Amino acid sequence: MEEELARLREAALAEIAACGTEAELEAVRVRYLGRKGSLTEAVRGLGRVPPAERPALGALVNQAKEAVEAAVAVAGERLAAARLAESLAHDRIDVTLPGRRRPRGHAHPLRLVEDEIVDVFVGMGFQVAEGPEVEDDYHNFAALNFGADHPARDAQDTLFLADGPDLLLRTHTSPVQIRYMRATQPPLRVVVPGTVYRRDDLDPTHSPMFQQVEGFMVDERVSFADLKGVLVHFLRRLFGAETGVRFRPSFFPFTEPSAEVDIACVRCAAAGAADPACRVCRGRQWLEILGAGMIHPNVLRAVGYDPETVQGFAFGLGTDRIAILRYGIEDLRLFYENDLRFLAQFPS
Ligand code: PHE
Repeated sequence: MEEELARLREAALAEIAACGTEAELEAVRVRYLGRKGSLTEAVRGLGRVPPAERPALGALVNQAKEAVEAAVAVAGERLAAARLAESLAHDRIDVTLPGRRRPRGHAHPLRLVEDEIVDVFVGMGFQVAEGPEVEDDYHNFAALNFGADHPARDAQDTLFLADGPDLLLRTHTSPVQIRYMRATQPPLRVVVPGTVYRRDDLDPTHSPMFQQVEGFMVDERVSFADLKGVLVHFLRRLFGAETGVRFRPSFFPFTEPSAEVDIACVRCAAAGAADPACRVCRGRQWLEILGAGMIHPNVLRAVGYDPETVQGFAFGLGTDRIAILRYGIEDLRLFYENDLRFLAQFPS
């Protein structure tokens, strides 16, 4: 028994010294000191020893247990310190390293141009309003003086919604004229940025979804001269103070008289001479930028205004087209594909 004890004690101390991790140490501890551990069994074995030998043997067993317990405690501290040193070396933080830069998002190029456009009108005292993209025939067409069989009402041009008798995706921002004027009394000056939809196939110059900014002003004695003044100022703020602007007679059901407004080709103007092979104007020297006119008396009547006392002008422009000219982009689809390599080139 004495020899057996001495052997156990030596074996335990050797195993403890050989432990490389706290988990290994715990396994060794359980093997010797656990409920079924060898030294624990030895304590129980004392019961079978003749009573006369018990005190001496008992003291030996206790010494062995104490020695092993002390060795476990010392090894535990050693291993814990080693683990700490290891993790300190491994997880070292260099507080002098420069921080990691987080990529910063920014507005979409169409939104940047829209903001620029809206800002010019806000500077002239216009309010900003919005309206629904799902419209009905009344606001999108009827109240805007479109005849019952006007071709724009055709399913060829308009995207109708299946779940309503006359629900459609607005084909222009002009229905917001109706909504705004019905809810307000003149004088008013309003710009309406928004998304519009038409049945077009996506190609470099067409998209079934595009952006417009509508504008209108109603007051006593508003004339076509006011319209010209506002639009020329706007276009020169956007494209430069020297930009040539021209008004051509045109037709819209909701304005009379109506005009289409062109600016001198930005590329030819920058080159100082008209280029017959110009990619931007295709040799035409002028770029169509917006539609405009004096609000038709029928429209004023439809919103409850008296065309004898108030007059107004309205205009609508394509934000996408202005963005294309502003940024020299050749393909409208780039604005809608949202490829980050493209979008990242427009910091605000
Ligand atoms: N709504 C017209 C269009 O989408 C543009 C326009 C607006 C023309 C206001 C005149 C007045 O083409």
